Amino acid sequence: MRSKIVAGNWKMNKTLEEAQTLTSELLGMIADEVKGDVKVVLCTPFPYLYPVKQQLGATRIAVGAQNCSEHASGAYTGETSAAMLKSMNVPYVILGHSERRQYFGEDSKLLVKKTDIALANGLTPIFCCGEPLEVREKNGHEQLVKQQVEEALFHLLAETIQKVVIAYEPVWAIGTGKTATAAQAQAMHAVIRKHLAGKYGTSVANEISILYGGSVNAANAKELFANPDVDGGLVGGASLKSREFTEIIKSI
Ligand code: 13P
Repeated sequence: MRSKIVAGNWKMNKTLEEAQTLTSELLGMIADEVKGDVKVVLCTPFPYLYPVKQQLGATRIAVGAQNCSEHASGAYTGETSAAMLKSMNVPYVILGHSERRQYFGEDSKLLVKKTDIALANGLTPIFCCGEPLEVREKNGHEQLVKQQVEEALFHLLAETIQKVVIAYEPVWAIGTGKTATAAQAQAMHAVIRKHLAGKYGTSVANEISILYGGSVNAANAKELFANPDVDGGLVGGASLKSREFTEIIKSI
């Protein structure tokens, strides 16, 4: 059975003190209110991974990085390697977020390398895909998302791709308050799963968690998560508020 996952992507937000306050609020709320087996991941900025992880201790909440280098180690000033994340027992890493694609020029060729090095270090990649508005308006969204998944992940063996989490994040829904409808999310998730099944077979495709991201909030999460192929969410802005993020987790 694939996992239900709600991951918060804090992006480049919060001071250390604010991060620790948010973590402590979430610890209390999640312990008191969240039942069931949903996995919760806090994708913090790099400097907060270790302190937040220490603060979380042995709870159901894990930390995740928002990126990692494609290189193993060496003279790459400002970069963080997958081995460093592994050495801190960070289990997850977001790869290929549309902001990385857009502002840092990340393409499929690079994402193959990042995915491989993350997996080689035992990390679970949360691989992001999603179309910009102009592509959806021309009805090219399914084709583009299939291509993004295929180019970055289809070199993996069946046993390895099952370790990847996919996040469908339509670019036009990120930070805009304009979420995909539940039907649009389900339709694309089904397309992604079918594409995975075409390459790896249905049983492998059914093991892969596919998260929705893009203006998920406490008011729309339930409807989005109710879809059969939506296995949780990758939440940006709403993950910065403890009450709202907890309500989103409870919606699954
Ligand atoms: P928002 O939830 O702020 O739209 O961001 C989504 C996102 O980019 C998560 O990775």
